[in-house]
Amino acid sequence: GRVLLAYSGGLDTSCILAWLIEEGYEVYAFMADVGQEEDFEAARVKALKVGAKKFFLEDLKREFVTELIYPAVQANCIYENVYLLGTSLARPVIARGMMAIADREGCDFVSHGCTGKGNDQVRFELAFYGLKPDIKVIAPWRIPAFYHRFAGRQALLAFAAEKNIPVQQTAAKPWSTDENLFHISYEAGILEDPNITPPTDMWKLTTAPEDAPNTPERISIEFKAGLPVKVTAGDKTYTDPVDVFLALNALARKHGIGRIDIVENRFIGVKSRGCYESPAATILRVAHMDIEGLTLDRNVRALRDQFVTVELSKILYNGHWFTPEREFVVSAIPASQRTVNGVVRLKLYKGNVVVEGRFSDEGLYDAKESSMDELGGFEPTDTTGFIQIESIRIKKWAPSDSCM
Ligand code: ARG
Ligand code: SIN
Repeated sequence: GRVLLAYSGGLDTSCILAWLIEEGYEVYAFMADVGQEEDFEAARVKALKVGAKKFFLEDLKREFVTELIYPAVQANCIYENVYLLGTSLARPVIARGMMAIADREGCDFVSHGCTGKGNDQVRFELAFYGLKPDIKVIAPWRIPAFYHRFAGRQALLAFAAEKNIPVQQTAAKPWSTDENLFHISYEAGILEDPNITPPTDMWKLTTAPEDAPNTPERISIEFKAGLPVKVTAGDKTYTDPVDVFLALNALARKHGIGRIDIVENRFIGVKSRGCYESPAATILRVAHMDIEGLTLDRNVRALRDQFVTVELSKILYNGHWFTPEREFVVSAIPASQRTVNGVVRLKLYKGNVVVEGRFSDEGLYDAKESSMDELGGFEPTDTTGFIQIESIRIKKWAPSDSCM
């Protein structure tokens, strides 16, 4: 059979590549460019050297931004109040890229290097089945013959030596990473003790806040229908979706914005300590929520927060992108974002994103109506009635005997 392997260039997937060949498969290697810092050419050379018959590199950055990141920004998606879902967001586009190649190149099988304890195996495989129900998945880390043979890193290293697989010095980075345009994650290795502070040189996408410039930098972000259509920083402006993201990443990197460290609950039920850097995403979240304050109807906002934000975040985290519930939930986004138009002005300073002001042509905010200094919009006496009616049941609840 012919198998398309999600290849990373690292030790695990290189060994999986060699093992699949040993098992009698013809292996094609697949890599997605989702904006990670990576030597794709070196990975191509390595995959072919280890024995892949073909190598495919797909640039999925644009669809990653416009089809996955955008809805997540519009819906303020977040998992367990902290994690902005950077790994989860990339999985659907990577899986779709793989299924397209598998289809075109006649691969009946796909394989990946996800462990049997994580979220990614679930996300990838549910996406594969949602796109190509007849695809056959080979998950070596869940195949006893594989995981018993390669229990422990020494066995993998020995196998790599036997198969002439070049191994980079990994002792200096005792953790596992997953990187894309939106974020980088750090898990496992020394981070498995939740009380170990990550070494300062682990963080790769941002400057430490204490080393960030002592002078704040001011930028503005314009939103249309809840999407960032223009970023202005100094005399530079960015409007292309990928450029907007890259520009905000560079600004956040410089000012130390977007680091987090959490213990999260994985879909399969185990807890996992993860550190993440989501630079641009952190700025966009602050800005988007701010412009919604000015432009979004109160009840729409409340419903969206309870339903779309919560459910879409769960859908992303659990790998349920290619499902009817995702289509249903996402269909509510445009109706919630129609009025989310305007500009937010921000100050970036030592790890902080500080809102300094915002404006919009939408009519929901009425300075005269909201003013404490003038009458306008409605009669103050109307509010007396509002409070009287609201108080009916509260008075009933009050203790009858005393005043508290
Ligand atoms: N815990 C995060 C998530 O589940 C990050 C996963 C990182 N994945 C990886 N293959 N290193 O989304
Ligand atoms: C893995 O287990 O392969 C990475 C972490 C995760 O998927 O949660």
